[in-house]
Amino acid sequence: MICSPSFLSSDFSKLKSEILSIDSAKWLHFDVMDGKFVKNTTYSHELVAEVKSYSKQFFDVHLMIEKPEEYLDDYIKAGSDLITFHFEAVDDAKQVIDYIKNNNVLAGISIKPDTHIDVLDNLLPYLDLVLIMSVEPGKGGQKFIPNSIDKIKYLNEKRNSFNYRYLIEVDGGINLDTAKRVREAGCDVIVVGSFIFNSNNRNDLIGELENV
Ligand code: DX5
Ligand code: ZN
Repeated sequence: MICSPSFLSSDFSKLKSEILSIDSAKWLHFDVMDGKFVKNTTYSHELVAEVKSYSKQFFDVHLMIEKPEEYLDDYIKAGSDLITFHFEAVDDAKQVIDYIKNNNVLAGISIKPDTHIDVLDNLLPYLDLVLIMSVEPGKGGQKFIPNSIDKIKYLNEKRNSFNYRYLIEVDGGINLDTAKRVREAGCDVIVVGSFIFNSNNRNDLIGELENV
C-alpha cells in the first residue's frame, strides 16, 4: 500500500524538519480544515505552497472545507497533485470533479463516517480516488471506526465489476493493526497521522505500514 503521512499531529513550530523526517513517504497528506465544515481550523493553500518549496512528494490534499469549489484555483496553483473534497460540502460533485481534472490535477471525493457509501455510485466512473473517513473528520488521534471496512469492500467490489480505476484511500485511526485490516478489504492508500508522529523511527514505521 501507499502511506500518505498526515502531519496534522506534528510539531508545527518545526514543520520543515517534521516533514523532512518522513522523507521516505512518496505521498504527503494535507489536512485542510476551515473551522466551518469541521470545528477545527488548520492551514490553507499558502502552507501547501510553502511545503512545495522543499518537498518533492506527491501532494495529497484533503479539503475539509465548505464551498471547496471556491478555493480550487488556490490549491491547484499551490501545487496539489490530488485534491479531495467532501461529498457533504457540495451541491454538484460531478462539476467539481470535472473542474479539478480539467486543470490536470487528480480528483478525489471523501465521505464522513455517517454518510452511506452508495451516494457515490454515479460518481465512481469519473474519480481518481475515494477517501473513506474512518474517524469523524476534524482531528487526529481518534479511534478507527469499524464500519469503514464495509465501505472499502463495497468500493473494491464495484471497482472489480465495472473496471473503475479509482484508488481507495482510508484516513483516521490507522496503525499496524488497522492498516492490515483495510489492506485485506481492498485499500490502496492509508493516511497515517499520530501513529507516525508519535514515534521516533518514522521512516521505518512507514516501511512497515506499506508492507503490512
Ligand atoms: C481527521 C484527519 C485525521 C488525520 C489522521 O480530520 O484527516 O484523520 O489525517 O489522523 P490519525 O492518523 O492521527 O487518526
Ligand atoms: Zn485527512
